[in-house]
Amino acid sequence: MPRFRKCVPVLGTSLPTVREVVDSTDPVLTKVHDLIRRTFPPDELVRRHEWRDSLREREAGLWSDSRWHLVVAERKGRVIGVASGTYLGNINIGTVGYLAVSPKARGFGIGPRVRAKLRTLFRQDAREIRGTTLAAVIGEVRRDNPWLRALIRSERVLALNFKYFQPRLRAGDRPVPLVLYYEGIGRPRQRLAAAEVRRILYSTWRRIYRIPRPMTRPSFRWMLQDLEGRKYIGEIRARDLPPATRSPRH
Ligand SMILES: CC(C)(COP(=O)(O)OP(=O)(O)OC[C@H]1O[C@@H](n2cnc3c(N)ncnc32)[C@H](O)[C@@H]1OP(=O)(O)O)[C@@H](O)C(=O)NCCC(=O)NCCS
Repeated sequence: MPRFRKCVPVLGTSLPTVREVVDSTDPVLTKVHDLIRRTFPPDELVRRHEWRDSLREREAGLWSDSRWHLVVAERKGRVIGVASGTYLGNINIGTVGYLAVSPKARGFGIGPRVRAKLRTLFRQDAREIRGTTLAAVIGEVRRDNPWLRALIRSERVLALNFKYFQPRLRAGDRPVPLVLYYEGIGRPRQRLAAAEVRRILYSTWRRIYRIPRPMTRPSFRWMLQDLEGRKYIGEIRARDLPPATRSPRH
């Protein structure tokens, strides 16, 4: 059965504006964090001051080959969507952190819009920092999240077929089993070399999650074990995913 998007009047007549937050004193930071807090469970939340600190680093001109971005969609002074992520120059890949739309505003394409803006910023980073085209955008999603099914409908997106874990963000939490997806920007890829996946994992754990020695973490070693002896990592097909739940989690 064909699916139809909700009509624009349901959202109201004024369309949301989408922009990047660049000022560490921007009052919108509190509202964005509220949306994230309402959407994701506590063990997946970064603290609000971490965003402010990142923007302060940017203002101080401290960044070299990586850049963090926060994109927001606002309507009538309210934050209704957010996408955050980091470009990593060493692997020339953009990584999506959070992607969320407030429940009443879902189904209007705002999520894809803020994500597209983030991808445009990553492309710009790749040109400015590496003088080349962005290689890929990657992200982590729960296996039963309908968003994963939406993503892999694109031939550019591979849901990588191995046991991926998001590291615990705080002492006492557990690593979270998720699916790592890879959206190739140039030619679509059917599989990735396992050696490339290993480098991506190491860079994201070191540089996004700021884990000094990933090999000391059992969950990082489990991932490497799962890749061992494999030359290529293929994709998880939609038919192999569990039925989608409407869980707000990753
Ligand atoms: C995922 C999300 C950002 C999509 O934003 P949106 O503006 O509603 O996007 P769209 O209206 O264009 O819908 C895009 C797809 O999202 C999927 N989707 C719908 N509701 C969803 C939900 N509650 N949770 C996750 N994905 C959902 C649908 O599969 C839809 O694809 P389709 O219309 O082709 O079937 C939004 O649903 C959300 O905030 N979900 C909770 C947080 C989350 O799951 N974030 C993504 C992982 S980090």
